[in-house]
Amino acid sequence: MDMHDKSGKAMNDHSEKLTQMMELTKRSWDERVPIHADDQTGLYDVASFLNGQDTLSPIENAEIGHVSGLKIAHLQCHFGLDTLSLARRGADVTGLDYTPAAVAKAQELAKQAGQSAKFVCADVYDALDHLPAGAFDMVFSTCGVICWLPDLGPWANVVATLLKPGGKLYLYDMHPAMAQLEEENGKLVATYPVGGTGASGALEFSEDESYAGDGRPLENKKTFEWIHSFSHVLASLLSAGLTLEFLREHDTLPWKAVPSMVPAAGRMFKLPDSMIGPSLSFSLMAKRT
Ligand SMILES: C[S@@+](CC[C@H](N)C(=O)[O-])C[C@H]1O[C@@H](n2cnc3c(N)ncnc32)[C@H](O)[C@@H]1O
Repeated sequence: MDMHDKSGKAMNDHSEKLTQMMELTKRSWDERVPIHADDQTGLYDVASFLNGQDTLSPIENAEIGHVSGLKIAHLQCHFGLDTLSLARRGADVTGLDYTPAAVAKAQELAKQAGQSAKFVCADVYDALDHLPAGAFDMVFSTCGVICWLPDLGPWANVVATLLKPGGKLYLYDMHPAMAQLEEENGKLVATYPVGGTGASGALEFSEDESYAGDGRPLENKKTFEWIHSFSHVLASLLSAGLTLEFLREHDTLPWKAVPSMVPAAGRMFKLPDSMIGPSLSFSLMAKRT
């Protein structure tokens, strides 16, 4: 992976160690794709999608507005369910993900669902080698995306460069305050530091199975993640020349971040009333002026 932004400026931490971390994480994602797409636990509800159900969460649905006719770049699209839901809404959408298995499965699902969408296999930091600059009305990236990126500065430059003047980034993801917590004995406990970037800021995780929870053992267990503070998210977007239209915090998430979370309306999850915690997710819209 070429770890520099499109202005040729080296990323803060262009170390061999970071490249290795990104490679190990990518392998783990590649291995998870068939597990997620098989959907033995129904987490992704692929069958309902193929029956015509939209996969966007109620929050995304309420906030993205009408997308019919818009040219959308969907970054970190996994195996394409949301990409194809955007296509169903009439968008001209291109999904991008860095694992070959994700892109192959997304292309297969597009055929099965009879939807036309393009899919590109590339690292998000290299997106401008694969997608046209200044061509998109919207960059859409949601639900477990920024934690895989070691630095949001170069990412925000890529996003801003993909957008047309007037085009918008829609980002919806886990709240950094929630990302710091684990559940212990029914209480949320601050466990992970927030705010690191590059190899020195990486958090290492090892998981025996994917979060889909079907019990199939993973060979590529190790992943590296980052918890980005709001100040890093916002400073990166503003430095890339984007203007913030809104930033919102929400008390639901589309997945169970801790075991005690309970179902909420629209296939979402929330903390039980007995558990005091922070907002679970945030969303923002930022415009290229
Ligand atoms: C939790 S999934 C995102 C879910 C997705 N929004 C969806 O619609 O299902 C995270 C995705 O990010 C991808 N990813 C992680 N780092 C990436 C990178 N640097 N470049 C491109 N894709 C990346 C992974 O392969 C994975 O498919």
